[in-house]
Amino acid sequence: MTEARQSIRVGLLGCGTVGGGVIRLIERNRESITARVGAPVEVAHVLVRDASRERVSECKPEWVTTDPEVVFGDDSVDVYVEVMGGEEPAKSYVERAMSLGRGVVSANKYLLALHGPALLQKAADNNVDLAFEASVGGGIPVIRTLREALTSDSVDSVHAILNGTCNYILTRMRNEGIAFEPILKDAQNLGYAEAEPSLDVDGHDAAQKLVVLSMLAFGASVNVEDVHVEGIRDVDDIDFAFAERFGLTIKHLAIGHERGDKIELRVHPALISKESVLGNVNDVLNGAYIQGRALGPCLIVGRGAGEMPTAVSVVSDLVDVARGKISGRPGLATKVIRPVPRALVPMSEVETKYYLRFEVADESGVLGMITGALGDEGVSISQVMQEGRGANGESVPVLIITHPAAQGAIDRALAKISQSGSMKKAPRLIRIEDL
Ligand code: NAP
Ligand code: HSE
Repeated sequence: MTEARQSIRVGLLGCGTVGGGVIRLIERNRESITARVGAPVEVAHVLVRDASRERVSECKPEWVTTDPEVVFGDDSVDVYVEVMGGEEPAKSYVERAMSLGRGVVSANKYLLALHGPALLQKAADNNVDLAFEASVGGGIPVIRTLREALTSDSVDSVHAILNGTCNYILTRMRNEGIAFEPILKDAQNLGYAEAEPSLDVDGHDAAQKLVVLSMLAFGASVNVEDVHVEGIRDVDDIDFAFAERFGLTIKHLAIGHERGDKIELRVHPALISKESVLGNVNDVLNGAYIQGRALGPCLIVGRGAGEMPTAVSVVSDLVDVARGKISGRPGLATKVIRPVPRALVPMSEVETKYYLRFEVADESGVLGMITGALGDEGVSISQVMQEGRGANGESVPVLIITHPAAQGAIDRALAKISQSGSMKKAPRLIRIEDL
């Protein structure tokens, strides 16, 4: 039954980059939001850590509190929006809101990756919504697409750029040839990076998002610790230069692939064609390239981080949750997400092509040793390239592109090669994805 309401009152938990954007967007689009919800959306309280910090000008001082009892003790609050981040107290607050029979919107992929299945169960038990579009892909509607638009299909694979900070850094490294650290500083100043930016550059943020996506794409409840994760710290200028010659570019990808009753989940830098759809997703943009079994390919691209793009996803969720509340049918969209535990393909069995770069002493027999070690493990080579002539004991780069091979075989071959006295540095491996 549809409830006639004066307004939908919001308890905002956190008012940093995203929370400030949420307040501004509610204010900026007041009329259209009211029309879509069927009642005005009003901020009732804003919970923060430090009440003295400066907030966006649209945030009224009387909303701001550091006391959670003020926010949860107010029976007039209809929906809680968690944009604090981290595990605790965010988890306790989300659970408390649902126990009170209130719907929750969260942008917190860390919370969802660690506790998504349990929180979804709690939402179902309390007949409320838990909406989390902003937790993956910032402003791009990837959760909604999987949950609603593709609900009649099943997903074979997802290849995605899910960390705006990494994509921004890689794009500028490639285009401007500048070092990693100053670009990371810019990403922080632009509000893209996490409070702890190692979560971005070491790949954990993308892994958390992949786990959240897998709940929808593969109905999977997965331990984030079990996902293979590599970040972008080791990506080198020289690899961009070589990639260019092969018509490739380097992107930080999150990959999910259903393989029979198991799923493959991995996050790492990958070489992909410059001409591919994800090869052209640059700067802070995120992209999710989904292969539906009936649909075929589907691409969603947009800004993956920052104040307003993320606020768009949060406020869209808020509109949905508010509508559910007003219509007297809350919780329906959330109940359809029922992840169950699923086994992962061990990384040693994952097969891709590889780009291998060796810095070697320029002496006879080295190339033979490398190709021999790969051959002994059944790894077939597609291309070999050696650059220059190492004078005075300097190293020379040797590049090898392989045909598809299992990671276990490559690891064994590289261990053998590394033991030889001819390597000047540890070999560099980047997986190649055909997209
Ligand atoms: P942020 O700028 O660091 O803001 C966090 C806010 O939460 C601050 O207002 C902080 O209060 C408040 N807070 C933190 N711990 C608290 C506690 N224990 N009690 C009360 N308030 C607390 O973070 P953000 O960038 O807005 O990110 C928020 C969430 O959105 C995170 O889960 C993040 O992963 C996610 N997200 C962010 C982006 C993005 O582009 N930034 C995009 C998608 C998703 P004070 O202001 O007083 O310190
Ligand atoms: N730090 C995250 C990123 C924010 O760079 O993608 C969006 O979740």
